[in-house]
Amino acid sequence: MQVRKAVIPAAGWGTRFLPVTRAYPKELLPLVNKPLIQIAVEEAVASGIEEVIIVVAAECSAIRNYFRPIPELGVLLEQRGDSSLAEEMRCLESLVRISYVSQCARLGLGHAVLSAREALGDEPFAVILPDDVVDSSESALSQMLRIFCDYGGSVLGVESIKTADIQRYGVIRPETVGARVHRVRSLIEKPSLDITPSQLGIVGRYILTPQIFDAIAAVGPGHGGEIQLTDALSILLETQPIYALEFYGRRFDVGSPLGWLEAQVAFGIRHSEYGDILRQKLRHMV
Ligand code: G1P
Repeated sequence: MQVRKAVIPAAGWGTRFLPVTRAYPKELLPLVNKPLIQIAVEEAVASGIEEVIIVVAAECSAIRNYFRPIPELGVLLEQRGDSSLAEEMRCLESLVRISYVSQCARLGLGHAVLSAREALGDEPFAVILPDDVVDSSESALSQMLRIFCDYGGSVLGVESIKTADIQRYGVIRPETVGARVHRVRSLIEKPSLDITPSQLGIVGRYILTPQIFDAIAAVGPGHGGEIQLTDALSILLETQPIYALEFYGRRFDVGSPLGWLEAQVAFGIRHSEYGDILRQKLRHMV
């Protein structure tokens, strides 16, 4: 079955990025000059997604405004002779059909996904967390869509996580069934090191069947008092298989200042306009 819709949760507090996130949603932080939310939407489009649902905090209008057409800006850029930038802005405004859902309270990732239930309907859908950016020739999501077609059942994007960081992730107990593909035997959200079932952590990409909604509705508050998607996946696992793919690509945790800085450098040194000069400047600095 085709996956046509993707949900992008963008309503968290962004506590790892305080203080900037007191007044500014972390999803609008830029990588070079492009905000994380746009990078996530572009990954969806590159993967063949036709409709994106962004879950925003009720009071946040900045993300809703970002993709809105600004006709007068196009006119201004054309008048200044910058047609290529004007065209880039038009493309951004018409990337894909985008709708917005307000998360009434910030009760965690599971709750954010459940908030989009009506908009997502009764079909499989993708989840993209914008604070995990993947640099790859084929998008992480399209690699996962192939696994969804081949195996059926939900698919999680995973990667081997450093021992010191394991407590920040949902972790799976894998049974390997193919090249980089695992059947998930159990999952746990943010395990301590002594009970972690493996080093394979979920990294911000999911393809889920609609049965996940009932599972989310059935779980109570989990780790950190939040409604955890990982806990709902454990319930789903009782009735449906779940697979995990170690996708190809380099993932950056841009939800933390260090990961964000690393990604700035990685994307910056390859940038068509700034790459060469940035490389030279970095050489001098280091
Ligand atoms: C969330 C999920 C976690 C996953 C992580 C990936 O955690 O709950 O299972 O491993 O995203 O980034 P959060 O980063 O919101 O604490």
